[in-house]
Amino acid sequence: MRDKILELEKKASSLEPNEEVRKHVRDKVVAYTERFINEMEDEKAFNITADKGAGIYDFPIQTDPLEIETVLDVFRENVEKPGLNPASGGHLAYIPGGGIYYSSLGDYIAAITNRYAGVFYPSPGAVRMTNMLIKWMANLIGYPDSTAGNLSSGGSIANLTAIVTARDAKGLKGADYPKSVVYTTKQAHHCVDKALNIAGLAESIRRFIPMDEDHRMNPEELEKQILQDAESGLIPWLIVAAAGTTDVGAVDPLEAIGRISKRHGLWFHIDGAYGAFFVMTNKGKDLLRGIEMSDSIVMDPHKSLFLPYGLGVLLVKEAKHLQHSHRYSANYLQDVIETEGELSPANISPELTKHFRALRMWLPLKLCGTAPFVACLEEKLLLAHYFHSKISEVPGFETGGEPELSVVTFRYVPKSGDANEFNKKLLQEILKDGRVFLSSTDLEGIFTLRLAVLAFRSHLRTIDMALQIISQKTDDLLEANPQ
Ligand SMILES: Cc1ncc(COP(=O)(O)O)c(C=O)c1O
Repeated sequence: MRDKILELEKKASSLEPNEEVRKHVRDKVVAYTERFINEMEDEKAFNITADKGAGIYDFPIQTDPLEIETVLDVFRENVEKPGLNPASGGHLAYIPGGGIYYSSLGDYIAAITNRYAGVFYPSPGAVRMTNMLIKWMANLIGYPDSTAGNLSSGGSIANLTAIVTARDAKGLKGADYPKSVVYTTKQAHHCVDKALNIAGLAESIRRFIPMDEDHRMNPEELEKQILQDAESGLIPWLIVAAAGTTDVGAVDPLEAIGRISKRHGLWFHIDGAYGAFFVMTNKGKDLLRGIEMSDSIVMDPHKSLFLPYGLGVLLVKEAKHLQHSHRYSANYLQDVIETEGELSPANISPELTKHFRALRMWLPLKLCGTAPFVACLEEKLLLAHYFHSKISEVPGFETGGEPELSVVTFRYVPKSGDANEFNKKLLQEILKDGRVFLSSTDLEGIFTLRLAVLAFRSHLRTIDMALQIISQKTDDLLEANPQ
């Protein structure tokens, strides 16, 4: 038996490469990523390739190993090249992501040291680091010391956790679900609807409150609807307001909504996945006034703190509500000791074992300080204004109102013919070019182009290039189809 065990150890030994092998593989990986970063500015942001990465299937998982060079080639051809490069400054669609370098090093250390970040007992330092970040964000929002929070994989899971917490905090039971009412707007991100369904609340009533011309919730209409629902025996339960909608970057009137939620005893949740970190800027502080009145808020470091994908945050003002919905116990965890003042993530979230997400956020904040993050957010706000004013000057272009945050909506209105069709074609031409990646939305039946500035690598030269491409493609289309 001993011989067999030793033989198996030998066979498995490539799982623990020696220093020389580690260096060889690491050097290749670092060379790969350096090339990726250094060449990015000259590469397309969006690349339509013939087979869309299908070549990955030519390399099935098998018994024998491949060389790192081959593996990186397969990755480059099939994963890096096709589709969107979200790390590019040319990513100006949806809500752009980030990918700051120091986060990758945080993930590297996290993977190698593999701390068990969900529970204080085995990993007190990792949990303290997590809780320190939660405190820092609570402080940014203006939440009190009673706040608890969770680092999740992204905004959707953070919103789901918030909705489950709000459900339990307001004591909703199954029989109440068909009578419970959620107040939001048509601009709410679809993950809110999804979360309600996952949380068992598919039968709950959704009220889409009318908005003003800038797509912000109308608080008078909100209050009217709450009163009407209460009078009809329904249960006004939850308000979901937006601190930056995905479509247009609208910020609901948070202060007024906060007062209404208090008056009528509803849970007030803010989806600030995109916009909440703008509270670090002067303009954002003003715009987001009342944010601290909410009971819970989602803010995504993988959006507006420029981190790579995989980090959303939920803050809940009263820790007890998060604990109430997520506490657990198990016989095999009987040695786990609670330490006063340090909540274990596993006790306030759906996850037990989890990626040590704090490190990818803590490392860049420590190595850069907060000042460059604030500057980068301010730059994005100004770039959106710059684009808005420049595109408004191009004959034939029509824009939405001044951007509140960093999303600009616009479209070309041809002298004749179908404007929706024209803009659809224009978008296709921009995407075929690929140097910048834009997207569209439907605003009250109008096909509208969007430019969202949030990638940390989007700068003045990127926006100038976008303006030049949009004008050029418009001219080309007009030339091919004279009006
Ligand atoms: C306002 C808003 N909320 C929630 C989400 C969902 O976040 P995630 O994609 O991280 O799950 C998004 C995504 O763009 C968003 O813009």
